[in-house]
Amino acid sequence: MARKRDTSERIERVSTLITGIGELVTNDPAPDRDGGPLGIIRDASVLIRDGRIAWVGRSAHAPLASPSSSSSSSSSSSSSSIEPAPFAGARAPAPAETADSTFDLGGAAMIPGFVDSHSHLVFGGDRADEFAARMAGRRYEAGGIRSTVAATRAASDDELRMRLSGFMRELHAQGTTTVEIKSGYGLSIVDEERLVRLAREVTDEVTFLGAHVVPAEFADDRDAYVDLVVGDMLTACAPHSRWIDVFCETGAFTLDETRRILNAGHDAGLLPRLHASQLGPGAGVQLAVELGAASVDHCTYLTDADIAALAGSNTVATLLPGVEFSTRQPYPDARRLIDAGVTVALASDCNPGSSFTSSLPFCIAVAVRDMGMTPAEAVWAATAGGAAALRRTDVGRVAPGVRADLVQLRAPSYTHLAYRPGVPLVERVWKDGAVSA
Ligand code: NIG
Ligand code: FE
Repeated sequence: MARKRDTSERIERVSTLITGIGELVTNDPAPDRDGGPLGIIRDASVLIRDGRIAWVGRSAHAPLASPSSSSSSSSSSSSSSIEPAPFAGARAPAPAETADSTFDLGGAAMIPGFVDSHSHLVFGGDRADEFAARMAGRRYEAGGIRSTVAATRAASDDELRMRLSGFMRELHAQGTTTVEIKSGYGLSIVDEERLVRLAREVTDEVTFLGAHVVPAEFADDRDAYVDLVVGDMLTACAPHSRWIDVFCETGAFTLDETRRILNAGHDAGLLPRLHASQLGPGAGVQLAVELGAASVDHCTYLTDADIAALAGSNTVATLLPGVEFSTRQPYPDARRLIDAGVTVALASDCNPGSSFTSSLPFCIAVAVRDMGMTPAEAVWAATAGGAAALRRTDVGRVAPGVRADLVQLRAPSYTHLAYRPGVPLVERVWKDGAVSA
């Protein structure tokens, strides 16, 4: 059954004023804003029109002269119409705007919606037993992927679709408004095509990961599997995908195989991204830089040469704290990367094996506690960093013209995301201007 997937269909064709924002993270630095790259505005308001940010600034300067008479107004606190107080003395340009609905955040913090640039959300089954065994001392191995491949192949489209929509609700409730989704648990032409097609129903950021591991049926002829990936599988998956990815690691794909697959993807119109240096050092990071990949993900074991290569490139290093948390491996050293000038993103890598969390607040808390990031760096990395890893300029910040993807926190500051780990601090989420609690 064909599903609608274009996010523009959900765009609110109305205007919304959000006011009473005690601390607004814009990721749009300016001389009169705090927080360096976070571009913080205090006592802020945001005006949304037709799903995009129409105006952002200090409430005292908001371009609204009088309350709307619309009955669709709503508020997080008391009023059902725009409170005049924040606009007393407003330097309102003519013509003055009115909003169809208003939200007064009462001093709460607001941040851009999280941009989760790495997930594997289309799969069957789970691997809770494998996780429990790891917590009892077993090592994480890439081969566990094959058990999810079996469960995924056995699941119907509708079973996978229902699971996926549950994950999408879960992400949204935790403040994620843009998500990249990889295939990689099908590993046959028909199953990989199914996974990218289902992913495409819910996001524009779809990644073909036929090169996740060599499936069991090709164990004795891995070259034949790589031929399949760059041949008929790529042909079937490219129309549904924007990106191509390879798990470049011992136990998965070699450097030469990775290069061949990414080049074939490029020829099919897909952009490269890469899993590398998750389980040990390797040449994948430098290959990502050489090929101009948007992002190289994991980056747990980096050499000085890897860091120098990344620092001189526009390839983002995407760190995935949920993986090290769930595999008991050492955390990547974000401080070393940031100090070298590398752009760092944080993502969930939500998958049933190495990281079954969909929570970017959780990733932020771990990155601050164990990876040397400041709360500001971690929040930037989970919003603007994720956008950079997806080469997107329309998400990950709050500025005129950008998509109105916003998160109201149940806290006075973004710092609480790290300071209060495990506490559900996401109060409300706006996606393309549409709000849900
Ligand atoms: O990003 N590293 C490769 N792929 C996933 C793990 C997938 C799995 O274990 O099922 C990852 O960690
Ligand atoms: Fe991954």
